[in-house]
Amino acid sequence: MIIEPRTRGFICLTAHPDGCATNVKEQIDHITSKGTFEGPKKVLVLGASTGFGLASRITAAFGTGAATLGVFFEKPPKEGKTSSPGWYNSAAFENEAHAAGLYAKSINGDAFSKEIKEKTLNTIKEDLGQVDLVVYSLAAPMRVHPETGVRHKSVLKPIGGVYENKTVDFHTGVVSDIKIEPCGEGDIENTVAVMGGEDWELWIDALMEADLLAPGAQTVAYSYIGPALTEPIYRKGTIGRAKDHLEATAGKLMQKMESLNGKAYVSVNKALVTQASSAIPVIPLYISLLFKIMKEKGIHEGCIEQMQRLFYDRMYNPDGLALDEAGRIRVDDWEMREDVQSQIAELWEQAETETLAEIGDLQGYKDEFFKLFGFHFDAVDYTADTNEMVAVPGLVE
Ligand code: NAI
Repeated sequence: MIIEPRTRGFICLTAHPDGCATNVKEQIDHITSKGTFEGPKKVLVLGASTGFGLASRITAAFGTGAATLGVFFEKPPKEGKTSSPGWYNSAAFENEAHAAGLYAKSINGDAFSKEIKEKTLNTIKEDLGQVDLVVYSLAAPMRVHPETGVRHKSVLKPIGGVYENKTVDFHTGVVSDIKIEPCGEGDIENTVAVMGGEDWELWIDALMEADLLAPGAQTVAYSYIGPALTEPIYRKGTIGRAKDHLEATAGKLMQKMESLNGKAYVSVNKALVTQASSAIPVIPLYISLLFKIMKEKGIHEGCIEQMQRLFYDRMYNPDGLALDEAGRIRVDDWEMREDVQSQIAELWEQAETETLAEIGDLQGYKDEFFKLFGFHFDAVDYTADTNEMVAVPGLVE
């Protein structure tokens, strides 16, 4: 079929297998261009198919030759209907990994469920024995609690008051004022239940109980802080509460894992265009200004550049790991630089529909967004008849 982008709101309903494969290949090339590092050998990645999780998987596999088991929740293709991009990404990743002689298998299903945990544990038992790194990179809109059966939905809302600011519709470039009503009863608890640390802890507990974590194993989950500008909707909003919980969970897991000389960290990453972040109001406008400034300063990064620095320069740095005062790893250090943030604050005041194309990197945002779905790659012929029925070769049935 001929595959074109079809968008609805913040999502793209189609994905291009060749474009997704190009995206994965470019990320692999970035890692191999950096040489190798001495790192984990058997890695479980939860949320392995897009964004930071995919980049983590690529970094582990191609940076240190790790065997990787990826868990994700993606829609497979049907005749005449493309899959979600994470499916094509995972197929491309596995093909590349297998060609390089690396173990790579994937599990598609709800990582919050007992069933998928069990399947994952069994696969580790049978194939890998133990894992020495667990990356927790899930970003989900909802979670069915495995014990209570309650369906929790996460919301992106301010707490305690209305938040008014500007945002941009990145498809049209129209900058408009938005007003977001504060969260209601139960919203904080529900968002914490989905995006907080409870499920991360359940995974680590299950792995430890089954003796599937190797001595010295590490685990890392991803957080975000961001500037004062986005605080009411992000760090001091409902999602921020979930991130507080996630960060507190790292401390708990650090203690639990002491018995095997293991470590648990949260890494605070940079704001990037991913499926999850495109849906947060205000963030696309912030990111389009951030990209412009970071590109001008020569410090722009995507997911793969971030994960390369996280693994090579932080977690597996033979000279030791630097943490902030709260015990977190920081790879948002360039985003949060004083010179970057003061420029953004200035540009924020000037950002209007008429000015944004010039003062911000709206085109860069758009390109990144479409690239998430395998579009906007020069090397891909989008007029060619393309087979949508791509298989993930190492899918555990
Ligand atoms: P993403 O949307 O690109 O990836 C999410 C992953 O989770 C995908 O692999 C998806 O298949 C998987 N997933 C979702 N629900 C699942 C379920 N029920 N079962 C199994 N897999 C499921 O997200 P992104 O942006 O890479 O986020 C990952 C983490 O990084 C999140 O904790 C996010 O808050 C954090 N982060 C994101 C930043 C950003 O700007 N995008 C910045 C800093 C941190």
